[in-house]
Amino acid sequence: MRALTKQLGDVIPVPASVRPITDATFTIIRGTGLTCEPEVIGVAEFLSDALEKATGHPVPIGPGGAIRLGLDPSLAAEGYTLEITADAVTVRGGTPQGLFWGVQTLLQLAPDLPGGVIEDAPRYEYRGAMLDLARHFFTADEVKAHIDQLVQFKINHLHLHLTDDQGWRLEIPGWPRLTEVSGGPGTGVDGAGPGFLTLDDYAGIVAYAAARFVTIVPEIDMPGHVNAAQHAYPSLTADGQPVPQRTDAEVGYSSLVAGKEETYAFVEDVIRTVADLTPGPYLHIGGDECLSTPPGDYRTFLSRVLPLPGKYGKRVIGWHEIAAVELPENAIVQYWRIEAADENTARAALDGRRVIMAPADRTYLDMKYDADTRLGLDWAGLVDVRRSYDWDPADRLPGVGEEALLGVEAPLWSETLRSVADVQYLTFPRLPAIAEVAWSPRAARDWESFRGRVAAFGPRWDAAGVAYHRAPEIDWPR
Ligand code: ACM
Repeated sequence: MRALTKQLGDVIPVPASVRPITDATFTIIRGTGLTCEPEVIGVAEFLSDALEKATGHPVPIGPGGAIRLGLDPSLAAEGYTLEITADAVTVRGGTPQGLFWGVQTLLQLAPDLPGGVIEDAPRYEYRGAMLDLARHFFTADEVKAHIDQLVQFKINHLHLHLTDDQGWRLEIPGWPRLTEVSGGPGTGVDGAGPGFLTLDDYAGIVAYAAARFVTIVPEIDMPGHVNAAQHAYPSLTADGQPVPQRTDAEVGYSSLVAGKEETYAFVEDVIRTVADLTPGPYLHIGGDECLSTPPGDYRTFLSRVLPLPGKYGKRVIGWHEIAAVELPENAIVQYWRIEAADENTARAALDGRRVIMAPADRTYLDMKYDADTRLGLDWAGLVDVRRSYDWDPADRLPGVGEEALLGVEAPLWSETLRSVADVQYLTFPRLPAIAEVAWSPRAARDWESFRGRVAAFGPRWDAAGVAYHRAPEIDWPR
């Protein structure tokens, strides 16, 4: 039987170090106040709002509060300590970001915080989720609400897949037909996911994410996955002839043309625009599944395009197919397939390139949980919660060990999605599992323990209206 009383370590991701002190508990009650150092007022306001929502009474910020927030520069940047006694709760972060993660831990334990000390810091600096806006568009407000769900599990990057064969979802000045035509009615898989982000929408998402210490990673997928761009601008096709809109879920049939200067004028304009709009360090150029791009053309194209994010101040990320070509020094390779080994990714790692691990058979949130799952795909197999939890990124690919890994990402492709509820159903509870893989020390992870801890989120998700999957391997409380 699962104990009803919350223990100090009942947190996802499980913290690096938990030292309980028996029988001391701090309870947040009406009148509990919050005190902070001036540098972290933003985090204090976030916590005050969140506690008011959770408890129904205000938790005012001012002197003498029993909840205290501050910085401790001796901690890792994203590290934090949380100390709970009967009289006070003290959270300190290495930076405001570390403090924000400590606040997430506090919120998971509230309102009755068991006494003790948590000392915590992440295993990987890149802990990502991806949302595909191309196959089905989600509005800026929907993306923001999704970010609120993700940060609870200390996810710090949201990769937005903004363009694909079925839709182009980000306004690009000078190229109005990209969004007027390929973001308009009838776009998306089965024509059911129209829409696009205006410049203001995108800036709003970036700012909302930044206020929650999340970096937006924009992806413009090329040279494949470009039918929406070519449909909008026939000058981007080989013969300059229009191509029809496509709303099926085929892949690999479209390609930018490596031998045409119009291609590079377009690509550079888009990359410059996206770089200017994006304060974060990364720009993802896709590079996957270029089945209709001859290998020589793929090389030619990437040799010209891989340096462009760097030219505009960004670090380039690509799906691991890019590792077939010579990469810029600081390029990042995102592994996504299900093979037991990948020579090119291993060579890139040996050459000092960092790798984001996102193997589809563990991290793809669009895989079905089981054969009966109404949504999702199964080309990478069925991925139940345990499968998404019980693996280690440093063991996944020979030649790609701990030191090569920048982090872990959980992509959600949207071919079968039609609503936010669909997003939530495939995301929860697998995302918390992958978040724990990305944050927690390997030695602290344990499936039986995770299984118990994740069950406690059922009532929270119910209360928040989050349409999570009641996975049968979890003993959800009634
Ligand atoms: C991918 O799933 N094509 C990156």
